[in-house]
Amino acid sequence: MVSIKICNGTSCYLKGAYNVLQYFQHEIEARGLHDRINLTGSFCLGNCEHGVSVEIDGKIYSVAPETAHKFFEETVMPLVK
Ligand code: FES
Repeated sequence: MVSIKICNGTSCYLKGAYNVLQYFQHEIEARGLHDRINLTGSFCLGNCEHGVSVEIDGKIYSVAPETAHKFFEETVMPLVK
């Protein structure tokens, strides 16, 4: 099970964290990955300057709504295959 946390802090929220969350939720649903990915929100991850911050198994990444698709394909999918 891959654990993905999306920062809900103010800075990340303003940069589109909710859009990133919605996109990930949609992809997980569409690809039937519920049993492989645990998606949750998170308090500030201490990476505000480079948000939207996404933590996967303890590692922090910077994702924007515009790059969410690429990130999901290139970083998330290899982890669940
Ligand atoms: S608000 Fe997201 S890392 Fe601080």
